[in-house]
Amino acid sequence: MLGDRDGSMAQLLITGGAGFLGSHTCLVLLEAGHQLLVLDDFSNSSAISLERVAELAGVPLQRDQPTLKATPEAFTLVEGDIRDTQCLDALFASAKAFGQPIDAVIHFAGLKAVGESVQQPLRYWDVNVVGTQRLLTAMNFHHCRTIVFSSSATLYGYPHPNQIPIPETAPIQPINPYGASKHAAEALLADLAGCSGKPEPIQASSGGWRIARLRYFNPVGAHPSGRIGEDPNGIPNNLFPFITQVAVGRRPELTVFGDDWPTPDGTGVRDYIHVMDLAEGHREALHSLLNSDPQLLTLNLGSGQGASVLGVVKAMEATSQRAIPHRIAPRRPGDAAITVANPTLAAQQLHWRTQRSLTDICRDGWAWQQDNPNGYGEACL
Ligand code: WQD
Repeated sequence: MLGDRDGSMAQLLITGGAGFLGSHTCLVLLEAGHQLLVLDDFSNSSAISLERVAELAGVPLQRDQPTLKATPEAFTLVEGDIRDTQCLDALFASAKAFGQPIDAVIHFAGLKAVGESVQQPLRYWDVNVVGTQRLLTAMNFHHCRTIVFSSSATLYGYPHPNQIPIPETAPIQPINPYGASKHAAEALLADLAGCSGKPEPIQASSGGWRIARLRYFNPVGAHPSGRIGEDPNGIPNNLFPFITQVAVGRRPELTVFGDDWPTPDGTGVRDYIHVMDLAEGHREALHSLLNSDPQLLTLNLGSGQGASVLGVVKAMEATSQRAIPHRIAPRRPGDAAITVANPTLAAQQLHWRTQRSLTDICRDGWAWQQDNPNGYGEACL
């Protein structure tokens, strides 16, 4: 039985569902037959992504308010801020009033730019920690105690070489306010589960809480249709969208932050995971929680394979048949040489592994960027 009710599919609240990871996960969950209520403030996303998700899933997208005016159908979008307690309370209460109580939450809403977090620590703690605390307060009050939480490999900070590939039991040592805010939210979830301070990645929980803390490595790529993908605000902080924007001619050249790292070609190595693999990992984590006794799961979502900056450049040049001009610059503060997941536990617990390669990532990411050179900015529905 998946849902908390009579075995029908679950009614899910997806916070931040219009974003890069959220939109792809919404599509996978709709295809699995779940009903979705999306809450997003569009501070770093576009509602167009969800219009396209609706098109791909073959379901209409309803727009509504926090106090729902109509019975939630397959796919409903509400604009609101995760820190707005009245908005959260109205959503849970009105869904219940329509006989569609929220069975579980997938919590993507948050800020995620490392560099920006260094400049704006108070804002990152407000959205990522206070926002999560207010969501959990509303969930607790409305007896909704199943949540999949968007965490990050950033928690591991500078992994010790003997901890690579990185297991979930590696030391937690965030090195920036973004990572610290994710660590704080993880600690709050452990406290709720009655598992405070325990390092075990799989534990029985108390109070009926069913919690999955998913630590993403580097999510990249796009849905193979090219209709949805990554659309960062302004100049991309992350490598992959920067590379696709150079390939499509939107940026003149890539700056490579250091070629003197202790890696095979001297450039940084990361574990790039296709966003569709990540979305399917969320579906499997949700189903695992809904069909198990109350527990606290902490899982890495990564491929277990590393790729260097120059390796990604070469793969994208081969896929796009476009040169990607680049120049070497000094290392970026806060970077580590190598960050790669040990994905064993997710495979054991969820029977899930990544299925898509770096070539698949480049093919799908390039298709999205070619069809949407300016992202959703000047898109037509
Ligand atoms: C990857 C590699 C850079 C940009 C961050 C967050 C992490 C997660 C993913 C949310 C590094 C190099 C980058 C550029 C470059 N986000 N690079 N030129 O830093 O591994 O992880 O995003 O959860 O939490 O920390 O990703 O894509 O920024 O960098 O050479 O213009 O590419 O030095 O080696 P990162 P990234």
